[in-house]
Amino acid sequence: MNATRHHPRFSLGLFPTPLHRAMRLREDASLLLKRDDLTGFSLAGNKARPLEFLMADALARGCDMVVTGGAPASNFAGACAHAAFIAGLDCEVLVAGDPASSTPLQLARACDASVRPAECDRSVVDDAIERRASELESQGRRPYAIPRGGATAVGALGFADAAFEVRRQLDDLAIDPSRATIVLPVGSGASLAGFMAGSAAMGLDWRVVGVSVSRPSVQMEAHVATLSMACSALMGTISAASGTFTLVDCAGESDVLEGDGGGARLMRETEGILLDSHYGIPAFDVAMELHATDREPVVLWQTGGLPAAIEFLGVSDSLVMGRQ
Ligand SMILES: Cc1ncc(COP(=O)(O)O)c(C=O)c1O
Repeated sequence: MNATRHHPRFSLGLFPTPLHRAMRLREDASLLLKRDDLTGFSLAGNKARPLEFLMADALARGCDMVVTGGAPASNFAGACAHAAFIAGLDCEVLVAGDPASSTPLQLARACDASVRPAECDRSVVDDAIERRASELESQGRRPYAIPRGGATAVGALGFADAAFEVRRQLDDLAIDPSRATIVLPVGSGASLAGFMAGSAAMGLDWRVVGVSVSRPSVQMEAHVATLSMACSALMGTISAASGTFTLVDCAGESDVLEGDGGGARLMRETEGILLDSHYGIPAFDVAMELHATDREPVVLWQTGGLPAAIEFLGVSDSLVMGRQ
């Protein structure tokens, strides 16, 4: 039974998202794609999942606005502004970096969000969000503060739910979940933390590999473990034991990857999926490596990132379509 069922949700996405074999990419049928690029809400991708729980929590607490933030290219920030608009909440987005442009910020503005400079580095934007929420409270507002990426115990419920969802789908495909490897890109850590909480609640010890793109893995490991425990506590379920997931460190590699369109090109020309250089390509590379080494079923979580994927199309000549 799904451990998130007692928590309120504000419906945004279309679930379950498809899980299918990537037959045009790997004929042996053991590479699977979990299509969170198809959650169907805005440009949210995987972030529709935490937003359903976060918006419901904000409404249940009687808040009248949300305050969030992140880098200018934050998919979460744009999707959060869109979700808040639909939920009837005002939204303020604090941007660590140039707030002038980027598709997610354009989306936030189109959803009536107030987009302001955070005047700090992305690594400490969560503190700025808290400070701004307190300031707004002293002015009589009822703000709901959401750290970047929606990385709270409530936000993590989204991927706790996703763990139950993909397990059911693997069962339906007659794939033993305990033999599967799940590959997830990791930014704020909300998705991986929730996934581990959901896995522990099911008592499922599958191999989970996080591809950490923004923080060094040592730092990320502790953060995910803490968040995962908080999510388990919220669900009233058993917590994941330490060491139940592994992290591959890809922090700081996105610039290097911009010149290398190999994985993006392959996915585009076989499965018709557009990968972004920040999350999609590193996760793809790790999944392909794992798949090549042990031949067990690998589930690559395709999380979305369409705005950056479209930008990436213009980056490298090597991406021009062509059949070898
Ligand atoms: C497209 C995409 N994939 C993966 C992630 C990483 O998810 P998380 O922040 O939950 O680690 C994000 C985060 O915003 C994202 O936008």
